[in-house]
Amino acid sequence: MSTESLVAAAIGARAAAYAPYSGFLVGAAVRGESGAIYRGCNVENAAYPEGICAEASAIVAMVMAGEQRITEVAVAGGGDQLCTPCGGCRQKIREFAADSVPILVCGPDGLRQRFTLADLLPASFGPHNLA
Ligand code: THU
Repeated sequence: MSTESLVAAAIGARAAAYAPYSGFLVGAAVRGESGAIYRGCNVENAAYPEGICAEASAIVAMVMAGEQRITEVAVAGGGDQLCTPCGGCRQKIREFAADSVPILVCGPDGLRQRFTLADLLPASFGPHNLA
């Protein structure tokens, strides 16, 4: 249940990516409260805005498995830049994660930089706003 296994899961998930339009393969892995790891990849679409990010598909896998709390996230992209989650995915993660949850940004060879959700989405709007 190590951070290394989550990073490896995100990097491995890149192999499943369906990204014929961008050519940018992304894998993600979220750890649920049980310790289980749920993987996702980006799934693009000929109608471009209909594509799904890797983080979103990992969250769907987690919820389908009956879990609703995220304790750790890893996302792995290619290229030289940091593949930080897009704005929409930051909000999707927020729904199921506390501010302190680590978000591990990885490249094909491993961890590049560690953030928390609060680093990436400060002063966020979440379920508590509706309570
Ligand atoms: N993408 C993700 O899956 N996650 C991210 O964090 C950033 C971007 C995908 C969306 C699209 O399929 C491709 O990467 C290029 O933007």
